[in-house]
Amino acid sequence: MFFASDNGGPAHPAVMAALARANDGHRMPYGVCDWTDAAVALVREALDAPGAEVHLVTTGTAANALCLAAMSQPWQRIFCSDIAHVLDDEMGAVTFFANGAEMAPVAHTDGRMAPADLFARIAREDPRRRGPVSVTQVTEAGTVHTLGHLAALVAAAGDLPVHLDGARFANAVAALGCTPAAMAAGMTAVSLGGTKNGCLGVEAAVFPDPARAHALWARRKRGGHVLSKTRYLAAQMVGYLEHGLWLETAAQANRKTARLAAALANHPDVTLAHPVDANIVFARWPKGLHDRLRAEGAQYYLMEDGANRPADAPLLCRLVCDWSVEDAAIDRLLSLLHAG
Ligand SMILES: Cc1ncc(COP(=O)(O)O)c(C=O)c1O
Repeated sequence: MFFASDNGGPAHPAVMAALARANDGHRMPYGVCDWTDAAVALVREALDAPGAEVHLVTTGTAANALCLAAMSQPWQRIFCSDIAHVLDDEMGAVTFFANGAEMAPVAHTDGRMAPADLFARIAREDPRRRGPVSVTQVTEAGTVHTLGHLAALVAAAGDLPVHLDGARFANAVAALGCTPAAMAAGMTAVSLGGTKNGCLGVEAAVFPDPARAHALWARRKRGGHVLSKTRYLAAQMVGYLEHGLWLETAAQANRKTARLAAALANHPDVTLAHPVDANIVFARWPKGLHDRLRAEGAQYYLMEDGANRPADAPLLCRLVCDWSVEDAAIDRLLSLLHAG
């Protein structure tokens, strides 16, 4: 019963097979190889951005920090929601990579900034300090922006460049039923996730217009993110994107999550904290129930300290399904929930 994270599951066999194919003979290092060319071509094709600059890195934090560093000046502020991963969970990586650029948080509802709030926050800022905007899709609250909402955020940003933290890009595409290119429309840069959805560890920092990717290779190298054996990152990305695997695994993760969320929503002691649009559920249930689930081996994140709380105190829990979660695990969790 593993629902702690979509980073906890195995890599997809097709990704492993691509790695095995790549593990043959010699190649020029540092991304000068056929595997990197193939991965870049597939990313460009997926986003319908034939000239895009594509950089493969090992973490979402690196992709975000490198993208935003290339989009900002050290004296600027970067606008994002007040629960953005780039703000809350990356130990200041963006500010570090961007030589001191600061974050400017904007209030969120269910993980999404209102375009009017973003516009107002930008308007309040000294024009010289107005830097890029970062939007997360799927949001940190597990919701998905509609294409209209994304377009409204891009419009609210005006002339400022917009970055999409797409650590769960494929889950959002699968949820919206749109094309990947439609979701990237208007974005100056996209962090395109792979790790949470079937890869071992690869993310792409993508600039559809390469003219906006100021010195990204040098920033990557300076930051220790140019792998000599880039071929193995590239092979993962090839296995992930070719034949549409990424959209299949994402749709599967979303389907499992929808099943879990629907059953949770029907339980009298459970309240969903946010709408469930993709593969993340936030829900509250009593500490007594939580203790019982934990004792039976259920793994998920507790979002608040449960120590010394009474048994009926509701606790905020986060459950995530990756592509490999089995129905049997969901069945078991649900039967435990109903057994009390
Ligand atoms: C929304 C979002 N962005 C970025 C990341 C960063 O990924 P990584 O842990 O690979 O640095 C995560 C990881 O949890 C995330 O949830």
